Amino acid sequence: MGGCPYANEKLIIYSYKNHIVMRKNIVAGNWKMNKTLQEGLALATELNEALKNKTINCDVIIAPPFIHLASVVNAIDTTTIGVSAQNCADKPEGAYTGEVSAKMVASTGAKYVIIGHSERRTYYHETPEILKEKVLLALANGLTPIFCIGEVLAEREAGRHFEVVKSQIEQSLFNLSKEEFGKLILAYEPVWAIGTGKTATAEQAQEMHAFIRKIITEKYGKDIAENLSILYGGSCNASNAKELFANPDVDGGLIGGASLSVDKFMPIIEAF
Ligand code: 13P
Repeated sequence: MGGCPYANEKLIIYSYKNHIVMRKNIVAGNWKMNKTLQEGLALATELNEALKNKTINCDVIIAPPFIHLASVVNAIDTTTIGVSAQNCADKPEGAYTGEVSAKMVASTGAKYVIIGHSERRTYYHETPEILKEKVLLALANGLTPIFCIGEVLAEREAGRHFEVVKSQIEQSLFNLSKEEFGKLILAYEPVWAIGTGKTATAEQAQEMHAFIRKIITEKYGKDIAENLSILYGGSCNASNAKELFANPDVDGGLIGGASLSVDKFMPIIEAF
């Protein structure tokens, strides 16, 4: 991807032990429950073509539905586009009809899994304890969790958004070792901005991302926190991506609706 090996990484130099810190810029598309297998394959291959021989300054990930994963992995260049599941089971294997384990996801060649999306928390009643199990199983099977956090509108209006996000992180992730935590990607998705056309302002996103990095610093230290990619999600599109991604603590986006066509997704990738 691109000529310079560090083209997709943000270089931040800070005084702490004079380490050079690198974290990845990432644009990830969460297809949610959209696209038949044929439509999904067409979208993935079209994106693959569009990215071929192009210099891009971020990693690109797509998260199709479970049943598309193996076919999508086979149809694209996975060194250019990473493939993610949108969920995995909270149990390793066995009599759990309808569930898909982290091990099965990994066996398709997918490398990432979205965990804790607000739609899973709300519609499928996934609790912080369940999410904690999912993260552990994802890591045990070599997958990179893209862990989602974010407050609902009433919590923001009550001024509780920092407290809510902090508790989501503490409850599902703070059991992890430093080494394990270092493997995560986080995605801040204010629930009031998802699919509503109402994006968080660049200031609101930066403020929350900086807050998240601060609490991670307090728990795991500056090295881990500065290397962590924190994505923004919620009505992110071609017209607001540049302004959002320009913030020092916003390392990319988790894109829903605008990831469903190459025309809309490409300009977000190119915002970097
Ligand atoms: P939209 O981009 O459609 O608002 O969805 C965001 C999201 O939930 C990505 O996971």
